[in-house]
Amino acid sequence: MHSHELVYLTEDASHDAIIEIINAEAFGPGRFVKSSARIREQGPHDRSLSFICADRGETIASVRMTPVRAGHVDGHLLGPLAVRPSHKNRGIGRELVRIAIEAARRKGSEAVILVGDPPYYMPLGFEKVAYGALIFPGPVDPGRVLVVPLAEGVHARLKGVIGWQDWQPQALAAAAE
Ligand SMILES: CC(C)(COP(=O)(O)OP(=O)(O)OC[C@H]1O[C@@H](n2cnc3c(N)ncnc32)[C@H](O)[C@@H]1OP(=O)(O)O)[C@@H](O)C(=O)NCCC(=O)NCCS
Repeated sequence: MHSHELVYLTEDASHDAIIEIINAEAFGPGRFVKSSARIREQGPHDRSLSFICADRGETIASVRMTPVRAGHVDGHLLGPLAVRPSHKNRGIGRELVRIAIEAARRKGSEAVILVGDPPYYMPLGFEKVAYGALIFPGPVDPGRVLVVPLAEGVHARLKGVIGWQDWQPQALAAAAE
């Protein structure tokens, strides 16, 4: 397979069924009990910031982003991120994360947050959130709570409950006034 056969597209409803299969394959039934999954159950993800990778028309990877308020930060929760086993270790996961962060930055998001493996995510720009600073709707390993700050003073404001929140970027809110 050559990388030029891969395309990255914004997710739409036609991808839902295959994304479900990809996530089931990657995470198994335990995926629904994770604390981050419980946030995602609180409201819909943002399709405009969620992306798939297709290889010759077949969807083989997905990343989703969900709007959250985390303490005093309006940001996005990244995940699930999954790549089909046939396509692992070709940089697809890394590229999906990069695209999602850039899209969030353009939208005015203050932070991209996730619960995941530091050795994978820290080289992609994630930093550790202070232990115990964010309260999830269930237990999390505090060493796996990570953030890409996209605004000033994010770490200081990441204190309190994290939950689904359909916030609007300030620019859009101002234009609507
Ligand atoms: C994790 C996952 C998304 C990575 O996607 P990918 O396209 O295979 O990864 P990339 O090609 O971008 O990066 C591959 C590199 O990351 C490393 N890597 C993969 N998973 C890792 C992990 N959990 N921790 C540390 N490094 C990891 C690989 O060893 C490889 O290292 P190398 O470049 O030195 O060889 C994919 O393996 C997957 O879907 N896994 C199952 C679901 C999952 O765990 N999702 C992440 C939730 S936290």
